[in-house]
Amino acid sequence: MNTTLLATAIVAALASAGAAAARADPAVVGLLAALAFAAITIWAGSAALALRAPDDCTEPRQRPAIAQPGNEPTLTRGGVFGRIWIFAIGAFGLATIVPIVSLGRRARVAVGTVWTAGARVVTEQGRPLRPDDIALGGVTTVFPEGHVGAQDAAALLIRVEDNAMLTNHAWAPRGNVAFSKICTHAGCPVAIYRHADYMLYCPCHQSQFSVLFGARPVAGPATRALPQLKLAIGPDGYLVARGDFSGPVGPDDWNRPA
Ligand code: FES
Repeated sequence: MNTTLLATAIVAALASAGAAAARADPAVVGLLAALAFAAITIWAGSAALALRAPDDCTEPRQRPAIAQPGNEPTLTRGGVFGRIWIFAIGAFGLATIVPIVSLGRRARVAVGTVWTAGARVVTEQGRPLRPDDIALGGVTTVFPEGHVGAQDAAALLIRVEDNAMLTNHAWAPRGNVAFSKICTHAGCPVAIYRHADYMLYCPCHQSQFSVLFGARPVAGPATRALPQLKLAIGPDGYLVARGDFSGPVGPDDWNRPA
């Protein structure tokens, strides 16, 4: 019975560690861990009861045996029971450590948007834009031609001075620079641009992104820059994308493996 309980605790603890390593449902990991702890708790209780001396126990006093050469008593470690304990300690150690690994960040799956190389940049009304259509300091929401309203493709097109010290100057023809409109904190639309300090603001939790430095967050809870849309001037003189955004759009917990 005792050995069965201990073996059950070991198997459940190992199964819990394995489930955590395989990123199984947390409920499964928790249930297996609960089973392991329940089994070892019952085992410890029954072992303690077995060790308790009965009330009427009297121990006869004996003369200590005198060891003869070649007949000295030997100390043993409890045979199989002792070795099972080693497994139990290892199994519970694994069940404790492995779930900690799952606290790390999961790799994001890069899910693209409908922006492709050569796609013309158009307004919400579907009008293609030339490099001088936006006034200096102006901002407008843009989409790839043919995909107006595609939410994850929404971008903010901003016009800054052509000689502004942009981090990615080559991606901003004639001062036209574009970033994803979806805040990297919690996905709200970044809606406000202040040209005095080249700053984009998210109204939800007041994150601020520096346009000059690749929309890097400089205040608020966002920790990742708004992905940039690389722009060029097409052969017909209209603004076009050079491809998709420079990174995944939206908050870090979007587009993760389930
Ligand atoms: S969603 Fe933009 S700061 Fe929170």
